[in-house]
Amino acid sequence: MKALQVRPEGLVYVEVPEPAVGPGDVLVKIEAAGINYIDTVAAQNAKPEQMPMSIGGEAGGRVVAIGAEVSDITVGQAVCFRGAPAAFAELAVMPAARVVPVPEGFDLRLASGLIANGISAHYLVTSAHPVQPGDTVLVHAAAGGVGRMIARLSKNRGARVLGTVSSAAKARAARASGVDETINYVDGDFEAETMRLTNGEGVNAVYDSIGATTFFKGLNLLCTRGTMVSFGETSGPVPPLDIRVMAPKSLSLVRCVLMGYIATTEELRRRAADVFRWVEEGALTVHYHAEYPMADAQRAFEALRNRETIGKLLLIP
Ligand SMILES: NC(=O)c1ccc[n+]([C@@H]2O[C@H](COP(=O)([O-])OP(=O)(O)OC[C@H]3O[C@@H](n4cnc5c(N)ncnc54)[C@H](OP(=O)(O)O)[C@@H]3O)[C@@H](O)[C@H]2O)c1
Repeated sequence: MKALQVRPEGLVYVEVPEPAVGPGDVLVKIEAAGINYIDTVAAQNAKPEQMPMSIGGEAGGRVVAIGAEVSDITVGQAVCFRGAPAAFAELAVMPAARVVPVPEGFDLRLASGLIANGISAHYLVTSAHPVQPGDTVLVHAAAGGVGRMIARLSKNRGARVLGTVSSAAKARAARASGVDETINYVDGDFEAETMRLTNGEGVNAVYDSIGATTFFKGLNLLCTRGTMVSFGETSGPVPPLDIRVMAPKSLSLVRCVLMGYIATTEELRRRAADVFRWVEEGALTVHYHAEYPMADAQRAFEALRNRETIGKLLLIP
């Protein structure tokens, strides 16, 4: 089979041995795989001694083999998953307990790129900071893969949504995903603009995937008892924080990762079931930037790193 590997010369799509299927595993023939920003970081940070390195955490496809102990997933079933070690391939192996059955009739390619951002946005707006009707929230990178979904779900829950973007095209995309007011955080000062748009009151929550360039300004624009939801560091890590800066406004901080909110099979599949239902009902839309053949992964990764993308990127084996 073919799989993507990180090698000294870059990303290459090469012949590799098929993965072994353990007793609790399923083997999936990949229909499509979703690129997440973290994949580009993994590829960029790979050390020579780790190469050739397998890559890819998110995908969907049909089960072609199951281990002896698997009872709840069957051969031929459509599944998708997040958290794989090597999903950018023709075949991927996953523990059966970590795959999500795709509902009957649901577009499998859609499901393949929906699962990571869908369940991330789910836990961010329902658990990390449960958005309440009447909240005002600020979503950074609001035209991005996960940002568009956080914006839409926050809007669905009755919030006023402010969103940062780097261009006019991204502002249009963010507005189409439920953002009420867009702020260009490259050309302007998003802290001042947020305070202007909220008449100096600030916001109840900041959804911050950007990190270094946004985190501390984000603390400044939270209202009393506001919550900083820090879930990424696209621009670099957040410097050490003296928590006393949070005292005057009694702020909360959540530094969260998806795996903490889908630790059990039950929680994973419950959140995924909500996401599938929302898409079927039209309450959540998946916006794709583009599909790339697996062999063109380098080009796709560069587009994502260079901030050229609006929405989700898929790789097709
Ligand atoms: N903790 C979790 O559970 C979790 C789950 C999902 C995603 N994440 C994190 O969320 C972030 C977004 O992931 P994604 O896959 O949906 O990617 P994405 O938002 O589609 O792409 C990243 C976006 O970040 C913005 N950005 C700001 N500063 C940047 C910089 N210095 N370099 C590159 N881009 C910059 C760009 O939008 P503009 O051009 O509009 O600025 C860019 O399009 C990542 O940091 C990811 O690790 C975390």
